[in-house]
Parts: sequence; structure tokens; C-alpha cells
Amino acid sequence: MRKTNSKLIIAIDGYSSCGKSTFAKQIAKTLGYIYIDSGAMYRAVTLYCLDNNLINDGEILMNKLLEELDRIEIGFRFNHESQLFETILNGENVEEKIRTVYVSNFVSPVSKIKEVRKKMVKIQRNMGKDKSIVMDGRDIGTVVFPDADLKIFMTASANIRAQRRYDESIEKGQRVSFTEIEKNILTRDRIDEGRKISPLKRAHDALLLDNSHITVKEQMVWVMKIIEDTLEK
Ligand code: DC
Repeated sequence: MRKTNSKLIIAIDGYSSCGKSTFAKQIAKTLGYIYIDSGAMYRAVTLYCLDNNLINDGEILMNKLLEELDRIEIGFRFNHESQLFETILNGENVEEKIRTVYVSNFVSPVSKIKEVRKKMVKIQRNMGKDKSIVMDGRDIGTVVFPDADLKIFMTASANIRAQRRYDESIEKGQRVSFTEIEKNILTRDRIDEGRKISPLKRAHDALLLDNSHITVKEQMVWVMKIIEDTLEK
């Protein structure tokens, strides 16, 4: 990792549902940095495909999607009331819609598409041009920002990840099945790790964080010490 002044690019990659976004948001808030959820962007493209009949009987209509790709505009807007960033798809706040199981079931195949990835990576790099950013995803430390100042690769057991996602959904009042969630997590892991382009993998210089048995508070203490050391270098 290279030396910098106080503006860092922090890349957080890892398996689905291991708390990357909670962690990345907390880091960004503590440092006063921007937080970008790159997964939300792939989810927004997936929602566009579902809403515009670009997925038929589970099959992505590739030619139609490529034709329409330029019409898909994705960005984030800060909501001062909730103090959170919202995902905006062609002018609409889709923050809630992109988190449904309906979108989760199709997001991995959509995020395998080369042209989709190319477009997302371009937007993501542009967002990071002024640094002071925490971005989470699958390929942030390997592809989007290979020179990031700090890279963390997160993991936790599939059962624990499924339980966390299940609890979250129940809390939101969603009717979900634990088995379905666990199945979705395992399928996404397999597709994310196995795809040809930008597969999920730990960058050689990423720090490994297995948070199966540590609390959110403990992982914050751990990372803030590392950030202090990085800033002092
Ligand atoms: O982080 P998430 O679970 O919301 O991401 C949704 C999907 O998007 C995930 O299954 C893989 C894909 N993704 C990706 O391919 N590359 C990223 N940088 C972020 C997410």
C-alpha cells in the first residue's frame, strides 16, 4: 500500500452479508469520508433489468440490455434527514427496492456481465478521484482501486451471515425464510468467486477480517488503529 497524506482510499471487499456496508459506513462517518456501496450499483442495474423486461424466465436478454445500458443512470444522493446515502436510478430513489430478495436473486448473474462491470467501474473510479472515500464491494481492492491506501477483505461463516440477514429482514417486517436466505448467500458466493471477470478474491495486500465471532465495536477498534498507523506512515 502506498503512502499518502490524510486523504485515503479505503477498499473493503468480501463475501455477501458479512457486514461490509455497516463497517464501511462507520469508518466513513468517523473519518468524515464519503461512503460508496458499489453493490447498490449492481443491484440498481438488476432492478432496471427486472422492471424493463430485460430478464425473461430467469434469462437475461443480453442484446436488449447492451442496447439499453447507456440509458441507465446510477448515482447516490445524501438524505440529510436520515443522514444516509440513497441509491438513485434514473432519478428515482430505489434504496428500498434494490434490497429485496427479488433483486438479490438476479444480481449475481447481472454483475457477471463485462459491459455492466466496465460501466460501474468507470463511475466508481470517478467517485474516488478526490480520495477521502470508503468503498465496499467485491473488486474494489483488486480492480477499482488497486492502489488503495488500505484494503480489507471480510469474511464470516455462511451460517452466521444468513442468520444476520434473516434477523435484519425480520426486524424490517419482511416475511423471509432462513433456508432461502442461506441458499441465496451460498449461490452468490459461488457466482461471485467463480466468475471470469473481476471475481471475488482477496487482494495480495488486503488485511483479512473474519468477523464470525467479533462484535461490530471490536472490529471498529481494530480498524481505527490500522487507519491511524496508515495515516502516520
Ligand atoms: O454487496 P451486495 O451484496 O449488495 O452486492 C450485490 C451483488 O453485486 C453481489 O452478489 C455481487 C455484486 N457486486 C459485484 O460484483 N462487485 C462489486 N464491487 C459489488 C457487488
